[in-house]
Amino acid sequence: MTKRQARWFFLVCTFGFAAIFIALTIHSHTRFPELTNADQLSPDVVAGKDVWHANNCINCHTLFGEGAYYAPDLTKITDHRGTEYLKAFLRDPSAFYSEEKHRRVMPNPELTEEEITQVIAFLEWVSKVDNQNWPPRPILVSGGTFPGTAVAPDVDPTEGAEGLSSTAAEGEALFRQSPPACFTCHSTAPGVNLAGPTLAGIGTRAAQVIEDPNYTGNAQTPEEYLVESILEPSAYLVPGEIYGANGMSFMPNNYSDQLTEEQVQLLVDYMMTLK
Ligand code: HEC
Ligand code: HEC
Repeated sequence: MTKRQARWFFLVCTFGFAAIFIALTIHSHTRFPELTNADQLSPDVVAGKDVWHANNCINCHTLFGEGAYYAPDLTKITDHRGTEYLKAFLRDPSAFYSEEKHRRVMPNPELTEEEITQVIAFLEWVSKVDNQNWPPRPILVSGGTFPGTAVAPDVDPTEGAEGLSSTAAEGEALFRQSPPACFTCHSTAPGVNLAGPTLAGIGTRAAQVIEDPNYTGNAQTPEEYLVESILEPSAYLVPGEIYGANGMSFMPNNYSDQLTEEQVQLLVDYMMTLK
């Protein structure tokens, strides 16, 4: 390369790429309002952001993968946990996690009811930001590291795992997808209760639940019990750890809008295989 060519090479590359970089930056900025739903920044969302900062939530948590890595990423937390659950959790986190069992625990931030509503509104807004699927795989809430709670199923839904019918395999794939994000609250490993009870053995247990004199729902068969559990979680509350408050289950109660009848049936087919 002659000296002259080298100079041109330097100038074209440096200024060319600088121009591309600047253009892309400007382009990103013009799209922020749309990607972040700026029109949905209600006063509660704005106040919730202040609550978030005033309490240093970011010292332990991440949003969009930014922050500290001590505690789970909360970018999509409102997709994974219903509002009722989040409210109860923020009132007293230690009721949900024990230090011995989970090896870490969130201190009670001692928020007022108003602050709780605001910070949840903020997290709800965050969850709707179009982050172009970044981070590509969610940084999982604590349950993610337990056995039986893997994100991606190892099975090809069209082929089916060993011993699973194709509908049960499709059901398992759906169970591990987000939404409906069943796996973030339910493991399938015995004894591993997350925000919801483990579903290990539910295929057998369902029959016992409906025979139980304390059962308050309307199901006549195990399959009906599973459908009811998804569509009307509060019809019967599984006893034990805190799974609900004032007769309301912490499981999201809007699956009837989110899932088709066929999808519910796939989930039921899968759960019936968990003997
Ligand atoms: C000292 C560190 C720390 C701070 C500060 C903190 N958290 Fe947490 N948070 C945690 C830990 C740890 C967990 C997970 C509990 C576990 O896995 O045992 C958690 C879990 C959560 C969860 C998820 C609960 C679940 O079951 O999925 C939410 C929501 C949450 N925190 C919100 C907040 C908010 C809002 C703030 C600020 C007001 C905050 N956190 C401040 C440590 C913290
Ligand atoms: C926010 C957490 C959460 C999510 C997400 C969630 N659940 Fe639940 N689930 C719970 C809680 C809490 C209970 C126990 C209280 C009750 O009975 O409703 C429960 C109970 C159940 C039960 C009854 C279990 C038993 O032992 O009788 C079934 C079945 C179930 N869920 C299936 C599902 C399916 C399928 C999905 C996804 C479509 C799902 N859940 C999503 C929290 C959740």
